[in-house]
Amino acid sequence: MPRGTGRVEGKVAIVTGAGSTPGPGMGTGKASAVVLAREGASVLLVDLHPERAEETLQMIEDEGGKAKVFGADVTSAADCEAMVDAAVDTFGTVDILVNNIGLASVGTVVDTTEQAWDRSLNLNLRTVFLASKYAVPVMAAKGAGSIVNISSISALRGDGTIAYSAAKGAILAMTVDMAYSHGRDGIRVNAIAPGHITTPMVNSVSGQDAAADFRTRLRNEAGLLGTPGTGWDVGWAVGYLASDEARWVTGVTLPVDSGVLSVTPLMMAPHLRGVQE
Ligand SMILES: NC(=O)c1ccc[n+]([C@@H]2O[C@H](COP(=O)([O-])OP(=O)(O)OC[C@H]3O[C@@H](n4cnc5c(N)ncnc54)[C@H](O)[C@@H]3O)[C@@H](O)[C@H]2O)c1
Repeated sequence: MPRGTGRVEGKVAIVTGAGSTPGPGMGTGKASAVVLAREGASVLLVDLHPERAEETLQMIEDEGGKAKVFGADVTSAADCEAMVDAAVDTFGTVDILVNNIGLASVGTVVDTTEQAWDRSLNLNLRTVFLASKYAVPVMAAKGAGSIVNISSISALRGDGTIAYSAAKGAILAMTVDMAYSHGRDGIRVNAIAPGHITTPMVNSVSGQDAAADFRTRLRNEAGLLGTPGTGWDVGWAVGYLASDEARWVTGVTLPVDSGVLSVTPLMMAPHLRGVQE
């Protein structure tokens, strides 16, 4: 992986969920943090499990980048306020916020419990609301900022994850509304909708049997490119949207999905026939 070219040189970024579920590979927050550090940003690595963010810190420091771990529960308003204060105290300001925390949960509107619904909306949506609530005033005060919200293709296509889909869809609505409300403050707000990428979190729920292997191959084959996607693919998109190269881009959702959203599923049937269970 080559060093960056300074696309966010001298900027300060907060990445929520900057650790990664343990296991080989990269989560999207971890990859985003590493990409931003490679591109010259100082990064506050926020995670409920600070030991996970420590691994991200190690990787950044090994490459000569600058970062700091901040343990926080981003569903808590007090923690979010403290997180923004920590970025300002440590690095002087906040230029970039990556709202990355999220976890899928399977269930229909009938079998999802109220507790599961609340848990999903808390984790996937409230975290975006609270982190932005405290970061936006810092950005607005200096008339510049970039927020990148990590949604999912589940916001746009049915997949039997009602609470997760609802939260991820609401993130897209928030993205547009925040872009509207804060554009004149110089703040850009965009979203990324990752497709069937493979991260340690996905591996941890897939297991390691033959069926898991089959599902992994299906994930890879379902897109137009027929290749696997990883946390890095999201991290590179974050790097672009966070940078001044995207200075005239706001209120959009960028799918990072190997073209899954661009195909009528039936048309993939001939390709998927090659995937044997
Ligand atoms: N993996 C996929 O296929 C996929 C697809 C679409 C979207 N996404 C989205 O990408 C994002 C990250 O996915 P991932 O696979 O890298 O997940 P991950 O679980 O590896 O990373 C998320 C990190 O967030 C941290 N975290 C969880 N709750 C927290 C809280 N309350 N406060 C602070 N930190 C908290 C976790 O400790 C973890 O380190 C999520 O928003 C997910 O919905 C993933």
